[in-house]
Amino acid sequence: MNETALIAEINRLRQKKNAVILAHYYQEKAIQEIADFVGDSLELSKKAATTDADIIVFAGVHFMAETAKILNPDKKVLLPDFNAGCSLADGCDPDDFQKLKDQYPDHTVVTYINCSARIKALSDIVCTSSNAKKIIASIPIDQKIIFAPDKNLGKYLIQETNRDLVLWDGSCVVHEAFSLNKLIDLYNQYPGAKIVAHPESEDHILKVAHYIGSTSGIINFIKEDPGTVYIVATEVGILHQLSRDVPDKTIIAAPSLQENSCSCSECAYMKVNTLEKLFRCLQNEYPEIKISDTLRTEALKPIHRMLTLS
Ligand code: 13P
Ligand code: SF4
Repeated sequence: MNETALIAEINRLRQKKNAVILAHYYQEKAIQEIADFVGDSLELSKKAATTDADIIVFAGVHFMAETAKILNPDKKVLLPDFNAGCSLADGCDPDDFQKLKDQYPDHTVVTYINCSARIKALSDIVCTSSNAKKIIASIPIDQKIIFAPDKNLGKYLIQETNRDLVLWDGSCVVHEAFSLNKLIDLYNQYPGAKIVAHPESEDHILKVAHYIGSTSGIINFIKEDPGTVYIVATEVGILHQLSRDVPDKTIIAAPSLQENSCSCSECAYMKVNTLEKLFRCLQNEYPEIKISDTLRTEALKPIHRMLTLS
């Protein structure tokens, strides 16, 4: 089926089945274009919590679709490709995480939403990159904290909040791939540019950034800022929304250490979803996210705490 036919079929099926398509900014262009809503992790969780659709097609990665299912036990939640993982979520094993918790039994556990339901179930409160500072600030100052699974976001939060967090040793394969040397070379070509970065990036990238924020934070900053040229250190899919929102500004993807076709950072997990797979999952109502009631109930508590505070 060609792209036009796929789009027509997806439109027909979503109407017939009362389905909503939620997509993250890192999805391929065609998926962002067809989605009912495109957003960052926090916005997508909020959308998932309030939708009245019968089926949620989550064009993102597994932990995002799983969060939508935790919030909507009675709805069918579909993920176009079950291989859409995340290095942060996949690198945090629940048994090992329990061992870390056992070493610090008096600590409050804050987890970044990029983790599995089993890790959420072991947490006191969840956060995303857009509300992490606020969530940490909501915890009494004398209360010690474990933060997992992203050590780069964790280090950034230690600096920003002056709290002493115990960190899990995890990272995002995409955001740790930015090259500082190449970034400096690029900046020298565009000396008036502003560097904007996602807080999953390493410390040396964040140190040179003019603005640090979530994917939506970055988009809003560039929309409102008077500048004209920006170097963006996050996954390259965000450039699609920026090309729509600020067509007159020059947006350049920050260079990655790896040499690939675009020399920029692509999340291989996000990009396993395609328009064709989105159509097939809507047609077959498969792959579907399933989660036991016991796990769902435990994982919901820290997500609820986050949504109440956000
Ligand atoms: P945002 O919450 O900023 O959308 O981040 C999600 C993510 O996976 C970043 O790598
Ligand atoms: Fe996970 Fe990084 Fe991909 Fe985001 S960009 S989904 S954190 S691997």
